[in-house]
Amino acid sequence: MASNRKLLVLPGDGIGPECMSEVMRIADWFANYRSVSFDITEELVGGAAIDAHGTPLTDATMQLALDSDAVLFGAVGGPKWEELEFAARPERGLLRLRKEMDLFANLRPALVFDALADASTLKREFVAGLDLMIIRELTGGIYFGEPRGIETLPDGTRRGINTQVYTTPEIERVLRVAFDLAGKRQGRVCSVEKANVMESGELWRETAQEIHDKEFPGIELTHMYADNCAMQLVRQPKQFDVIVTDNLFGDMLSDTAAMLTGSLGMLPSASLGAADATGRRKALYEPVHGSAPDIAGENKANPLATILSYAMMLRYSFDLGDEAELVERAVTGVLDQGLRTADIMADGKEEVSTTDMGAAVVDEMAALAG
Ligand code: IPM
Ligand code: MG
Repeated sequence: MASNRKLLVLPGDGIGPECMSEVMRIADWFANYRSVSFDITEELVGGAAIDAHGTPLTDATMQLALDSDAVLFGAVGGPKWEELEFAARPERGLLRLRKEMDLFANLRPALVFDALADASTLKREFVAGLDLMIIRELTGGIYFGEPRGIETLPDGTRRGINTQVYTTPEIERVLRVAFDLAGKRQGRVCSVEKANVMESGELWRETAQEIHDKEFPGIELTHMYADNCAMQLVRQPKQFDVIVTDNLFGDMLSDTAAMLTGSLGMLPSASLGAADATGRRKALYEPVHGSAPDIAGENKANPLATILSYAMMLRYSFDLGDEAELVERAVTGVLDQGLRTADIMADGKEEVSTTDMGAAVVDEMAALAG
């Protein structure tokens, strides 16, 4: 198989690098036993890039990302860089990647592995079998809206400003991704905003309905206010198939959905751009969890979210569905064997380190592949 697929790996800060090392074992296994290989370039991002280059993302790395077929991202941030001014913080590296690659659709699946149903803070019956997908708009809304800033008023008081803004094309393109994906799942989309208090929410609701009626009449569309959605997610999460929402609501609702699964350490994500003439989308894959500086370097982190992000990459960027499934089945397998990193540890299970978990996934892949 050709090996000219270009993959940019950005491990970042905190537990990012140690989780990424486990992914590289899996990449090696595919290269050795399945002839699935990538031209891998590794670069710095976030605090690591600030320390080395004085910026969370160099222009050269930004260009590499634009030239790659996929970007695999670890995590950024930590106490060391928290005092920096806003525009110089590690997070700006990630936001710049999202914006300049125009990754407007962020797919955040919340899937409950049967072996972990008891790790959720919700009762098993409410979460067992849960499989929902949150699609978060990622390049618009209040994260990027202008005007923004902090200004000093004539009376000496200060005012902080951010702008929530959406245009119809921005709403339409993310809704299309949601309807498309729902068609491959249970066929149900719940569009979430606050049309009761925000004009941008009213436009969102009208536009969602229009795209549905014109282009996807076969998909079920419901609308929900974001506060109600937060409540419904913890009340009856299995009512949802695909949730589509704006950047800020998506940020919050996806953390809530993540916790339903028992651990943030289990959740992958994909951020996709528009399809080009060949159908290829720019894409970045990252775990939903952050850099967890408190446990960084201790070989305690759960590498499964980064490993599952790699599986999403195989599926969505390279059309390697069988390979993605092999990784996912191996993850299910190691959980069924009772292996747990500290974040998902439970009575009667075996606590393992980051590296042991990665090695176990590779062993399980080999066993499953026969
Ligand atoms: C996320 C994170 C980011 C966000 C931060 C790190 C900028 O919380 O990916 O959900 O707010 O989008
Ligand atoms: Mg977040």
